[in-house]
Amino acid sequence: MYHLAIGKFFDSIIENSEGPLMFAKSTNPYLENNYAPVSATFDTADLTCEGVIPADLNGLMVRNGPNPTQRVNPKRHHWFLGDGMLHGVKFAEGKAVSYRNRSVSAGGSTPNTHVIGHGGRIVALVEAGGAPVEVDHELNSLDRPAFEGSLRRGFTAHTKLDSVDGALHAVCYDFKRGYQLSYLAVGADNRLQTHQDISLSTKPMVHDCAITKRFVLIFDLSVTFSLNRLIRRYFPFAWNDKHQARIGLLNRQDPSQPIQWFEIAPCYIFHALNAYENNSGEVILDAMRYERLFDTVKIGPFGESSPFLTRWCLNPNTGSVTETQLDDHAAEFPRVHPQLEGQPTQFGYALGIGDDPSSPDFNTIVKYHQDGSAEIHTLGQYEMASEPIFVAKSGSVREDEGYLLSYVFDQREGTSHVIILDAQDLSAKPIARVMLPQRVPFGFHGSWIGEPSP
Ligand SMILES: [Fe+2]
Repeated sequence: MYHLAIGKFFDSIIENSEGPLMFAKSTNPYLENNYAPVSATFDTADLTCEGVIPADLNGLMVRNGPNPTQRVNPKRHHWFLGDGMLHGVKFAEGKAVSYRNRSVSAGGSTPNTHVIGHGGRIVALVEAGGAPVEVDHELNSLDRPAFEGSLRRGFTAHTKLDSVDGALHAVCYDFKRGYQLSYLAVGADNRLQTHQDISLSTKPMVHDCAITKRFVLIFDLSVTFSLNRLIRRYFPFAWNDKHQARIGLLNRQDPSQPIQWFEIAPCYIFHALNAYENNSGEVILDAMRYERLFDTVKIGPFGESSPFLTRWCLNPNTGSVTETQLDDHAAEFPRVHPQLEGQPTQFGYALGIGDDPSSPDFNTIVKYHQDGSAEIHTLGQYEMASEPIFVAKSGSVREDEGYLLSYVFDQREGTSHVIILDAQDLSAKPIARVMLPQRVPFGFHGSWIGEPSP
């Protein structure tokens, strides 16, 4: 889910400054089982399938994640570190046409967190100042600057697409650059159209953002840069009780205007499900809330508290804010219909992680309803899924009329496959399974890159 490669420079300080050869008698769960990297590169056609692949699935399901094949110190290795590797399955005319995987690398950058399609391009992303890397439809890294070379600095892992104007919105941070964030918007033409620096008094870890019609939501929360951890060669972000958690509303029309801040209870948010404005002009944010994170646990997000879907209502007129937990299924990697970010939505989807915060089971996929109820798809006993990606059916009318695609790891067999679920019936078995020639390590985020209509 997560992500954050801190850039090659800090990566090298943390990972390579001492320590044994990689994975020697590892005691780090993020190097074991299906967190361990793979070394082979595949280009496999004629994949074996079960069930019936929908004929309107025409495109590429691609996903990014860390693949730490470099030397690492198991004592300090953090899940968010390691060079990115893309895994992609192509679908066309009712068939799973091919699987391939490729390392991400261009100009010294190896983004490991997300991969998106925008402006006719495919781009691998990472936060904390790392440069995005454009890849071709065969997942090969391209030796040219992403976003047509229009960025002034690095970018981030999570963007929000406003489907009304076609622009991508992002809040970027880079602890190496000082006490500031940057709000960026990249137009439908794939070029930077807005860059607004934002001064802060601290260095928060800002993994995601959210948008509404009028605002960009900025998450200035309880995890901040820790020089102490960097010096001790750990992942350099930690829980900070001294930092007041707050959410900011930045005016999209005039980003130079002062941000309106709303103080909230201490927490961390990796991922927003969605945000929008209601009829009263309140800003509604639904996101996965951690009560505590990176306090005592230094190697990954699991073990201190479980993330639950939570709603914040921010009133720009009164300055008031309320917070309500909406669901009691621990879950992460929330997604909505990709054309509805920043607009009111009826449904959301996430990966269930189970009841033990220190050992996620990834055994369920959750569908959230606006009325507060949830549907659950439970996988097989030995199966562990990944972020569910929603793909709308061709000609769909209802918001949830589509498919959920997820990479699944079978612990008993040591293999991976892709499942296709009917997003309108999570109680049903998968519509189809696509068997893959190798296991796909647990990674972070991905996208459906649809083929243009003929
Ligand atoms: Fe993420």
